[in-house]
Amino acid sequence: MIFPIYTYGQSILRDKAEDVDLNDVLLPSFIYDMFETMHNANGIGIAAPQVGLNKRIIVIEEEVTDGELFKGVFINPTILKYYGRMLLMSEGCLSFPGISENVVRPESIEIEWYDENKEYQRNFFHGVESRILQHEIDHLNGVLFIDKISGLDRLKMFMRLESIKNKKVTTTYQVK
Ligand code: CO
Repeated sequence: MIFPIYTYGQSILRDKAEDVDLNDVLLPSFIYDMFETMHNANGIGIAAPQVGLNKRIIVIEEEVTDGELFKGVFINPTILKYYGRMLLMSEGCLSFPGISENVVRPESIEIEWYDENKEYQRNFFHGVESRILQHEIDHLNGVLFIDKISGLDRLKMFMRLESIKNKKVTTTYQVK
């Protein structure tokens, strides 16, 4: 099932998401639907609050380098450590159709999470993988990428943000 995606201006995107019960029987089908929704929207990552469920679940699928696929399900993820240089990279977001902006974030992270088999995982991520994870984990804490850009850049996109808020943008995927 493809979910409609919540866009900027809707309060669920600002809520802190709750921990997932790993034994929830609906979890596998929800994860499947999140992948389907993400693929349908040509996204590379999506967090459950973006499809209206205020739970700590992220799915990611992106070709990172030379056909190497970074694909994963991250349940109840926590960032344990940020490290490395601060890097500027362009980011977009399915909740902000038509907008991409440069965002500064630390290069690397160490995180812990549960995977789709309910297995505990802990690992380090760098580069694009770290970038996508930081963006998506922010969603679980009610933080959006526009919070991390300069005031001037935000001012420049003010009209665009207003049109998203007022549902005046066209998208190739269904929005809520
Ligand atoms: Co996003």
